Amino acid sequence: TITAVRLRGILDSRARVTLEAEVTLASGHTGTGSAPRAIAPGRLERRRGPGPALGPITVPAVSAALTDGTVQGQQQCDTRLVGLYEADEAGSDLTLALSLAHARAEAAARGIPLHTHLWQLYGGRTAPGLPRLMVNVFSGGIHRTGPPRGFQQVMVLPATGGLHTDIEVADRVFTAAHRNVERRFGPVPLSASSGLMVPLDSAGQLDLLQAAVAETGHTEVCTLGVDVAAEHLLTEPGRYRFGDRVLTAPDFADHLADLAHRFRMSFLEDPFDAADEAGWARLRGALPATTSVVGDDLFATDATRIEPGRADGILLKLSQAGTVTATLAAAAAARRAGMLLSVSHRSGETEDTAMCDLAVAVGAELIKVGGPRRGDRLAKYNQLLRLDESVAAP
Ligand code: PGA
Ligand code: ZN
Repeated sequence: TITAVRLRGILDSRARVTLEAEVTLASGHTGTGSAPRAIAPGRLERRRGPGPALGPITVPAVSAALTDGTVQGQQQCDTRLVGLYEADEAGSDLTLALSLAHARAEAAARGIPLHTHLWQLYGGRTAPGLPRLMVNVFSGGIHRTGPPRGFQQVMVLPATGGLHTDIEVADRVFTAAHRNVERRFGPVPLSASSGLMVPLDSAGQLDLLQAAVAETGHTEVCTLGVDVAAEHLLTEPGRYRFGDRVLTAPDFADHLADLAHRFRMSFLEDPFDAADEAGWARLRGALPATTSVVGDDLFATDATRIEPGRADGILLKLSQAGTVTATLAAAAAARRAGMLLSVSHRSGETEDTAMCDLAVAVGAELIKVGGPRRGDRLAKYNQLLRLDESVAAP
């Protein structure tokens, strides 16, 4: 059972304040967890609380609900947290920080790593495994300040057969792209998720990325992917601002299909707003067989929203689901629907690396943690390197 809960406001990678929780169990074991803070939350995801102040925070309703001596195990903890959320006593950021802290405390009490604990909570459904990387090279959409509006993320997906070489390839491609854009435009800033922000439209970025892949000699082992984050391109229902044009859903579908063919895209996330069913359907019929269409804002990591046939895969974000249990339930529902699993960071991150353990626990095929630059992103690459040893170990 839980004997003590501590909460505090800490900084995220954009110097906004977010929440960290510490949970102590009767066994004396303590776990810590924190919540990321997104620039672009989707409208279907669970609402987060107002930005807290830095330093210690007391939420009497939270302590009362968790430390009455009756909370046993992750599911009960998360049920209480959902109750607090529904009673408007806690946002999804607070419930997530507490849920992760509790999971870490229990893993510590049992003397097992977090990924093993999460795998057991998942029901040991499938073999744990290391995901492949999707590496953010260019940032656009509302992750970038200023026009033109385009894809939120343009990514390279290395597939060399091993994590170390995938990271090396991604870094070479990123470095080459960075050098080439600086030659053309001078110094370019990094976005929150450590993608390069360049004054080019999305097709121009894809061109540049393809050239960087070719220049580094990795064309055989790399494909490209994008997060369209279409909800944030809407000008009105059924119309999308893309570059300097506003396109109807059918025209946008045709344009996306054309880009997917031209740039050998293996991953296409949120190509349409969730309400635009016809857009999703038209696009899927027009894509190469090798392109996976994945729903992020579409499903909002909510098991009850998963409909087979809508997309090939789901993007899992702990902070959309708000608890460990709800995230695992969304992963299980997506698997039952035959979907591919990809785990994702948020634009504002902390040093928390639970998303990497989650990806291994559910055997996700893919993970995106941003560009290979700066501490908040490197914390995730480094955790994957650690996990690679334990998952690979006999
Ligand atoms: P967000 O974007 O954290 O701003 O929602 C993250 C993503 O979808 O990659
Ligand atoms: Zn997204």
